[in-house]
Amino acid sequence: MSITVSAPGKLMLMGEHAVVFGKPSIVTAVDHRMYATLDAFPEPKIILEAPEVGLDFYEKNLNELGQGIVPKEASFVEHSVKNFVAKYPISAGVKITTKAGFSSKFGFGSSSAVTVCITKGLSEMFGLNLSNQEIFELSYKTVIDVQGKGSGFDIAAAVWGGTILFQNKGEIVEPLNIPGFDLAVGYTGKKYETVKVLDEVKMVEAEFPDVIAGTYNNIAILVEKALDLIKSGQPNILPKLGQLMNFNQGQLDTLGVNCLELSEIIYAARNAGAYGAKLSGAGKGDCAVCLVDGFNKMQVADGIRNQGYEVIDIVVNAPGARVEM
Ligand code: MEV
Repeated sequence: MSITVSAPGKLMLMGEHAVVFGKPSIVTAVDHRMYATLDAFPEPKIILEAPEVGLDFYEKNLNELGQGIVPKEASFVEHSVKNFVAKYPISAGVKITTKAGFSSKFGFGSSSAVTVCITKGLSEMFGLNLSNQEIFELSYKTVIDVQGKGSGFDIAAAVWGGTILFQNKGEIVEPLNIPGFDLAVGYTGKKYETVKVLDEVKMVEAEFPDVIAGTYNNIAILVEKALDLIKSGQPNILPKLGQLMNFNQGQLDTLGVNCLELSEIIYAARNAGAYGAKLSGAGKGDCAVCLVDGFNKMQVADGIRNQGYEVIDIVVNAPGARVEM
């Protein structure tokens, strides 16, 4: 039996960092996907091939998952299977081959998308048909086991797809419809580990606890205002939504997670007519999201390119994890 599952990457429209502390966030799934093919294997072990991370062959017995040396490149897959087997004991082995539809350097959440692929793939393979909520919970546990922190919003985007409100470790996941919205995405060319950025923000927080608490609250207020706007049914909400995204960027600057490259992309996009622009995700690198519609997307993308940055072509509202036929 062979089954291939895919899951989308994500971009954060509003609410990063504060979402780690239970505040609301708005995230969209993008049409760049990760893939995992699962084949039944006669012995009780996992065999992993992950060429995109340079892992040609890796094997581990099912009863030893998570023990001994776990190479970084195998950690999300190994812990995904470990957590699945702990909850739903299986005796058969599985050969897993992953394929990346996007580079891990963009900050689209490749590890989370792979984790969701493995959990959903095992669920389908063993006929469990787990619900989205069950796949989310197992996958989120895997991310916490491997990296120790994270809100889970990227897991939720990979599971449910579309554009969602995500809050409080997945207690609230609600589909959102933002009529006519699109994103021009500028890539800084820089990668900064999320966990490292979170640790640095923690250090700022230790020195200025009241300022940072206020900043998280401000971010939450901005996301709530964006949600009111999105749900208001008013026509043409993009200019106001863009303004709220710009305010959100100011708060992220206070957290210390902005950088020169992000600022250059953001100002190039705003000057070229974007409704709003801000960093997406942890910050200090990765991508900026620039709010556009079908009319100004090309012009904003050109503005970013003219500033010397790569534009990554994406489609928003991509479907969530699915079995590929
Ligand atoms: C990283 O993509 C976004 C953060 O909010 C961390 C998280 O939500 O897990 C900084």
